[in-house]
Amino acid sequence: MPEALIDLRSDTATRPTPAMRAAMAAAEVGDDVSAEDPSMNRLQERTAEMLGKEAALFVPSGTMSNQIGVRLHCIPGDEVILEESAHIYAYEQGGVAQLSGCATRTIKGHYGHFTLEQVQDLVRPDNCHYARTRLLCIENTSNRGGGSVWPIERIAELCDWAHEHGLATHLDGARLFNAVVASGIPATQWCKHFDTVSVCFSKGLGAPVGSAICGTRKHIDHAIRVRKVFGGGMRQAGIVAAGALYALENNIQRMAVDHANAARFADLIRNVPGLKVDPARIETNIVYFYVDPKLGTAMEFGAALKQRGLLVGALGKQQIRAVTHLDVSAEQIERAGAIVREAAEQGGRAEKRQPAAAGAYE
Ligand SMILES: Cc1ncc(COP(=O)(O)O)c(C=O)c1O
Repeated sequence: MPEALIDLRSDTATRPTPAMRAAMAAAEVGDDVSAEDPSMNRLQERTAEMLGKEAALFVPSGTMSNQIGVRLHCIPGDEVILEESAHIYAYEQGGVAQLSGCATRTIKGHYGHFTLEQVQDLVRPDNCHYARTRLLCIENTSNRGGGSVWPIERIAELCDWAHEHGLATHLDGARLFNAVVASGIPATQWCKHFDTVSVCFSKGLGAPVGSAICGTRKHIDHAIRVRKVFGGGMRQAGIVAAGALYALENNIQRMAVDHANAARFADLIRNVPGLKVDPARIETNIVYFYVDPKLGTAMEFGAALKQRGLLVGALGKQQIRAVTHLDVSAEQIERAGAIVREAAEQGGRAEKRQPAAAGAYE
């Protein structure tokens, strides 16, 4: 195994930098369950301000902030509309049903996006036979859509439609700031269309822990109760809040580097025989590529890459995902491209069987 592995499995792989750790070590703390942690209060106020919402609440994970979002808008027997590859639907263990007792109605999207035509007949009539259609969820950027950024006009159109039909709207903005940097459209402009927004500090922003659910003061007062029963009430959480605050203040604009690295990686592997990637589809920090079966499955090709020092995620039988982030340099991207080429040219299999660094990476 080569020493310095290049980890492109996910942007969750980032580790806090010395400056971020120093900010965390110096954080003033208090009991956050009693809202007495000054660092946490600062982070929440700053997050709400950046998103143009009245209030924000820190939670341990993006899964929790999404599931709280669903719970805020729905009661058991309600139905949630989302895209079929959406994290809330596909990667949160059916939490919409488990935790909120709701049904889901999925749409087959294109790179994670869908259109008004696809949803406009999905609101069920007000009749006791039916679930009550209550919530529309959108994911921006779309993870399984290859980090794709939604057209903001489409979001405006869909959310206006949803509100006119009595539906609430929730944005899974785990990578909202990637969309902000790629589009140049401020977070407030994206968020104004949604009743609630979830953002993650622990992905491209590079903080070690946490997400936030944002909305009106009333939503967040309710969210405080839901977070507690979901087990997310934390005590001297200012230590992690300080890492998230550092990320908000220092790590947003630098995501342009991750986007350039992803584009470069796609370009490096574009002409490798046996692989398929569309560089025009790389909008942010995520690169999906397809492996021809003659090079093995995605798991097998992933094992061949791992043996050469590159970690990626196998997200389908023949589909691999590589994600750029704060802990990957431009020089490592050049090396990653060379590793992929070498592995493909040598037939794609690992020398001896080795489990790939692969699976349902988020
Ligand atoms: C789009 C999206 N939403 C939500 C999440 C959940 O975040 P967490 O892993 O913090 O629960 C992820 C995780 O990668 C994600 O990609």
